[in-house]
Amino acid sequence: MTDLGLFEAIHSARSLRRLRPDPVPEVLITKILEAAICAPSAGNAQNWAFVVVRDAGQRRKLGAIYRKASDIAAALYEARARPAHLTEEQWQRMMSSGAYLWEHMGDAPVLLVPCLKRRDVPPASALSPAMQAHYADELAYLDRIRGASIYPAVQNIILACRGLGLGTAITTNHLRCEDELKSVLGLPAEVQTFALMPIGYPIGKFGPLSRRPLSEVAHADRWSVPWST
Ligand SMILES: Cc1cc2nc3c(=O)[nH]c(=O)nc-3n(C[C@H](O)[C@H](O)[C@H](O)COP(=O)(O)O)c2cc1C
Repeated sequence: MTDLGLFEAIHSARSLRRLRPDPVPEVLITKILEAAICAPSAGNAQNWAFVVVRDAGQRRKLGAIYRKASDIAAALYEARARPAHLTEEQWQRMMSSGAYLWEHMGDAPVLLVPCLKRRDVPPASALSPAMQAHYADELAYLDRIRGASIYPAVQNIILACRGLGLGTAITTNHLRCEDELKSVLGLPAEVQTFALMPIGYPIGKFGPLSRRPLSEVAHADRWSVPWST
């Protein structure tokens, strides 16, 4: 394998959902996990866990849960308009690639489930009166940033896969049936899942990615001033 430049990897790591069933060498999975745990986490808590599912029976069960959860997602998508920045062709391509995965999640040779163990919040009684007055705000803050301690690891997984020539995609549909998935994996109550990532050698090609231009999404100093390139 030739070494891929960082920016080339970033610009070509598109979601690849059509994957070959060939097994992924364990040493590569370890490399991916090592990249995952290089990610930042709030307070450096590193309260993450990664479940690597290769067993065919387990994959089949997760695939069935993803299928069921995706029916709910599909109903939502039907009612949702195509985003203006996507052409009809891009939209249809995404929908058909997504629908392929509904049927084939369990066929990917590896299913990776990034998780976080819930962190204890100090009880209000342990805090100063000033902090106690804002306890509800603090809980809301922690809730708001919860995923931020695992999604950087997910992006590292995406880039590590890209670097190793493996396809993957971040998916979250299963969260609609998360309890079932947790039961299949035997996850303790305090562990939550944040993604279900199929990993395998891709049938399709990597990138280039298509994104809205910077001038639409980046601002210079204040909201109304577009970043110019
Ligand atoms: C939070 C999040 C949830 C996603 N959930 C799903 C999902 O459940 N199923 C799926 O096929 N793709 C899912 N995706 C992938 C997006 O569809 C994909 O990133 C987007 O269409 C851009 O495609 P590209 O990466 O190929 O450019 C998700 C992406 C994100 C960031």
